Amino acid sequence: MNTDTTTDITFDIQKIRADFPILETKVHNNKTLVYLDNAATSQKPKSVLDALQSYYTTQNANIHRGAHFMASKSTQDYENTRLTVKNFLNAKHTEEIIFTRGVTEAINLVAQTWGRQNLQKGDEILLSTMEHHSNIVPWQLIAEEKGAVIKVIPINDNGEILLDEYEKLLSPKTKLLTICHVSNALGTINPLEKMIPLAKKFGTTIFVDGAQASVHLTIDVQKLDADFYAFSGHKVYAPTGIGILYGKMDILEKMPPYHGGGEMIKDVSFEKSTYNVVPHKFEAGTPNIADAIALKNALDYLQNFDKNALHAHEQALLQYATQEMQKIEGLKIIGQAKEKISVISFVVEGVHHSDIGTLLDMEGVAIRTGHHCTQPLHKRLGLDGSARISFALYNTLEEIDIFINALKKAIKMLL
Ligand code: ALA
Repeated sequence: MNTDTTTDITFDIQKIRADFPILETKVHNNKTLVYLDNAATSQKPKSVLDALQSYYTTQNANIHRGAHFMASKSTQDYENTRLTVKNFLNAKHTEEIIFTRGVTEAINLVAQTWGRQNLQKGDEILLSTMEHHSNIVPWQLIAEEKGAVIKVIPINDNGEILLDEYEKLLSPKTKLLTICHVSNALGTINPLEKMIPLAKKFGTTIFVDGAQASVHLTIDVQKLDADFYAFSGHKVYAPTGIGILYGKMDILEKMPPYHGGGEMIKDVSFEKSTYNVVPHKFEAGTPNIADAIALKNALDYLQNFDKNALHAHEQALLQYATQEMQKIEGLKIIGQAKEKISVISFVVEGVHHSDIGTLLDMEGVAIRTGHHCTQPLHKRLGLDGSARISFALYNTLEEIDIFINALKKAIKMLL
């Protein structure tokens, strides 16, 4: 094991691990869990679990409606999360933060409202080869309806955007650039600070899928000049079923509502209804109150760490795992971008990725296998799938050693 890392000094990993009770779980005949599927969903710290328990045991009530103590406490907590998210993204206004179920719902919301209102026949939607299916299919649905065209930004074999090709694709027809900040399959950090200004020259609207970036990078939507930015709670140590859509106020105000129902209205009659102000216009029905409240605990937890120490720890994990994996004969890492977060997809010659997943699982090592909801990307790379490990702040170099040994054992059995 490589012990040549300075991160342990500033980053007390054992203390951090104690914050996540699930990491003590034993799987398959008392094997210690080595959880390396964090890009799919992260585990939750005790403060998040406690917030959920506390909400349902002491204050469960509907928000923005009731005239009683618990209703007003829950409303206040829910709106406090909105403020925390505003600061987390460095948005200009708290009202620019809309609660959704996650990134998928955020993309569908924008496609069905902004997209339906703004896209016309022949307009172009630009997205990249490495997009998750959730940043492809919602746009295909609206493009088909409106006669808009999807254009795809190519990548090189390392899994990086070809910036020259990207520039060539931009034109006044480019109505939307929709792109992941970080690829879930490759870990590539896309150069948005270069890409967004180029698209803006053509008046293009920008949607950024921040599902994988939000837990690893510092996000500043104003600096990025993104028109929309979305992330999911469950990838930033919060519960599933809660997510965020950020949108610039002037754009959100012009957009029609997405779902109709209670709370999104100003006035209802059988002849005509009028709608509430942003963000409530986009939050029909009783929302996911408990998970929204717990999202604040998760973001507080994440933001409590020294950013540099956190980054150094995750990069140390990435580098050590990459180095050890490269020593394995026949193993190929998919995605070798210069700028990447701690995600490593790989294939092993002569071995099926799903068999690797099954055998690692028997050793207590949880990884993901398949196409990772990126079929077009895998097709571009000439693959039908791959195996993927992905790290969170609680992972250790020792866990990488366990993974490497289990992987070597699996390959030996399968070849
Ligand atoms: N999009 C998530 C992943 O990459 C589920 O695993």
